[in-house]
Formats: sequence, C-alpha cells, structure tokens
Amino acid sequence: MSKAKGSFDKLTTHRLREMKASGEKIAMLTAYDYSMARILDAAGIDVILVGDSASNVMAGNETTLPITLDHMIWHATSVVKAVQRALVVVDVPFGSYQGNSSEALRSSIRIMKESGGHAVKMEGGVEIKESISRVLSAGIPVMGHLGLTPQSIYKFGTYTVRAKDDAEAEKLKSDARLLEDLGCFGIVLEKIPAQLAREVAESVSIPVIGIGAGPDVDGQVLVVHDMLGITQDFKPRFLRQYADLNKVISDATTNYIRDIRSGEFPNDKESY
Ligand code: KIV
Repeated sequence: MSKAKGSFDKLTTHRLREMKASGEKIAMLTAYDYSMARILDAAGIDVILVGDSASNVMAGNETTLPITLDHMIWHATSVVKAVQRALVVVDVPFGSYQGNSSEALRSSIRIMKESGGHAVKMEGGVEIKESISRVLSAGIPVMGHLGLTPQSIYKFGTYTVRAKDDAEAEKLKSDARLLEDLGCFGIVLEKIPAQLAREVAESVSIPVIGIGAGPDVDGQVLVVHDMLGITQDFKPRFLRQYADLNKVISDATTNYIRDIRSGEFPNDKESY
C-alpha cells in the first residue's frame, strides 16, 4: 500500500539499529514539555529523551536525585502528546529501579502505561543486570547509560571525565557488551575518552549515543536547554551551543516591560 501524502516513518528501535548498520548518525535531544517536544519532533529529531536532567533544568535542583517517578511520568506524558515521529525514551529516576528487579519492572510499566513513552533508560551495568533483564522480559525496550552516570554523583564525587584508567575502561567495555547481550536497544555513553567510546561503538551492534564521548559513536545527545543556550552557567567542553536563547528571551522580556511602561503596548490594533 502506498503511503499517504505527508506521511512519514515513525522512529523505532529497529530503525535505530538499521541507522547504525548503514552509518547514518542518530540525533537525540532531551525535552520535558509539550511545546519544546513539538518543535524538536517537527524539526526531525530522531530520539527525544525525557531525561531526569529535568531535575536540574526544569526544577532547579543541583542533581538528578530528587526527581520522582510521578514527576517523570508528568513530563513524559506532555512530551508524548506532542510527538508524531521521534522515539520517546524516558529516564527511570533514581530510587525507582536500583533496589530490586520487581520495583524496576513496576516503575517501567508505570512509565509505559501512564505516559505512553516508547522505551526507558537506566543508568549502570552489571550492578543493575537483574533489573534490566526483568524490564526487558516484559517487552519494554531498555536503553543503557554508562560512563558518567549522574544518579551516582555522590559516589563519584565529581563530574569529571570517567573511565580514564584501565580498570574503569575495562569495566565499561564489559558492561557495554553485557547490555547488548541482555537485549538493550542502545547505550548512552557520557563523558568518557573519545578513543574508548569508539572502541565500545565498534564492539557492539546496538547504537551507541555519546554526550562528551567524541565523534566516533553512532549518534549524539545534548540537554536541549544547554544546546539552545538557555542554561547560562553550564558550559562543559563537549557542549556546542546552537543558539543564544537566553539573550533572545531576556531581550524580548526587556522590550515587553519597556512597551508596557511607556504605554506602547497594547496599541489600537491589539485592542478590541
Ligand atoms: O537526563 C539526561 O538528560 C541524560 C542525558 C545527559 C543523556 O541522561
């Protein structure tokens, strides 16, 4: 059957694997609300991550730890309503999957049922093996996350580059193979040396998406508020800022205030 005019293919985990196989790079961004998700989806983003970075950029917390499962479901529900094409991956938040696999399954089922998200993401390797397997066994696609895993920030004590020493690099490589063997559909690698990220991407057949992991992976992800220049005080080396929305919004607000104070807004055309 031919496709209707204006129709398009929805991004699936299967399609992501095909993209890796054919060398087509995957573009992923975070979003936490309807309006932003609608813009990103219409612009052609492949994957939208409802990241627990919402804890930082939406709620102003210092870490991702305080955000709850209910908060994540709220954000994901708004994003899913806006999306027509992208694959929506939702972070399972700190404290709702590490304890035991039944809890991981319960949390992931809530995310899928209540938000309509298409997949979940969990941080960690061998330590959360049972949780990942249990969630996958329910037919829920799982994305792994290795390297700098912000939910473990108090264990690391710092946001610096991970896996610079041999022992940690070897563990990361073995965790990546494990995630593939368990059946994860992809892996996020955060803030690790580019050479290591390249080795990992070459050693697995599932897509590897980098953030601060160099160019030789299968795709890239950034926090949308950082990429658009809304965030002001977070400028790590890996971040490329594609706009200065902080200035755009600030200038527009200053002009709005000026026009109200001067009586220039609203004018006759803007009144009934
Ligand atoms: O929560 C988030 O935004 C993330 C990305 C940094 C990958 O996990």
